[in-house]
Amino acid sequence: MEEDHSLDCHSIEKKAREKADVLDGYITPSLGHLGLSPVALDVPIIDLSRLNGDDPSRRAIVINDIRNACRRFGFFQIVNHGIPQEILDAVLSSAFKLFELSTEEKMKFSSTDVHKPVRYGTTLMLKDGVDRIPFWRSFFKHYSYPLNDWIQMWPTNPPDYRENMGKYVFEVRKLALELMGAITESLGLGKNYMRNKMEDGMHVIAINWYPSFPQPCQMLGLPEHSDYSCLTILLQSARGLEIFDAEDKSWKIVPEVQGALQVNVGDHLEVLSNGIYKSVIHRATLNAEKPRISIASLHSLGMDEKMKTAKELVNEDHPERYKESSFNDFLNYLSNNDIAEGKLSFINA
Ligand code: SIN
Ligand code: FE2
Repeated sequence: MEEDHSLDCHSIEKKAREKADVLDGYITPSLGHLGLSPVALDVPIIDLSRLNGDDPSRRAIVINDIRNACRRFGFFQIVNHGIPQEILDAVLSSAFKLFELSTEEKMKFSSTDVHKPVRYGTTLMLKDGVDRIPFWRSFFKHYSYPLNDWIQMWPTNPPDYRENMGKYVFEVRKLALELMGAITESLGLGKNYMRNKMEDGMHVIAINWYPSFPQPCQMLGLPEHSDYSCLTILLQSARGLEIFDAEDKSWKIVPEVQGALQVNVGDHLEVLSNGIYKSVIHRATLNAEKPRISIASLHSLGMDEKMKTAKELVNEDHPERYKESSFNDFLNYLSNNDIAEGKLSFINA
């Protein structure tokens, strides 16, 4: 896997545009890719304000919606999630400024070591990428919890980065714990089933920057993959996330909903649920008009804590299907196999 950290944005862009002229037909196209109206994923938009009211029957409806969405798509959108719009706007604004820093400043964080708690990189495959799909994105990844352990290692520029990201991390973590409770409840395990382990768990923020690209059908931002997390909460500056609808066997764009966040079932939840919920296969497409940012907040167990299938969900008809593994096992797998992006089948390995 080629990871090219030595190029600045302009030379990458020049190289990519030259290559794009000769690349064709590599990407499994969605209709949007072909310049037709993209098929929007008809996925539930779940109103979380009804999760914690006085009326338990309203909570039961939300839990049921979550169960159906996790079973059908491994994915849903949430509104009224409790994170103020100002915090979302501020963190996106800081994230854009972060990628506008000079190449030199960003490169101070550059590393191919997947164990580094803070790192910057550009993943660019012009040819022979995953499934021969060319793709291009830059990213910052950093550990985020406990906040006081890591915030001192985050970028100091732009000057408002730590404050705005810190506020977002605090809010999104609360939300993740609440959602995880709702998800385990939807599996019949009760809302506190994973509480302690999630409270001690890893929280990684991955900020992705994607260039605008005039021929989006010839290049992706991020090839298809599932997330190695229990759940991922995504904040995007513009439309671009596509989900593979396994029932329809086609790619569908996630519709933009003002103020909404997206929730992915990750590999660890697939293991916990014994495959009742499958981790969602997704990818990021490029936008023809403007660069796009997405901020993925990945929540999993502690670094060395192995995720095991809930024994309550194993029986004669549903034998245990997954090997147990920790976040650290996953990182070791990535570095031993030199994998940076894309399709992974770690939990089934
Ligand atoms: C991700 O899968 O981490 C990011 C997806 C996106 O940019 O929409
Ligand atoms: Fe992802």
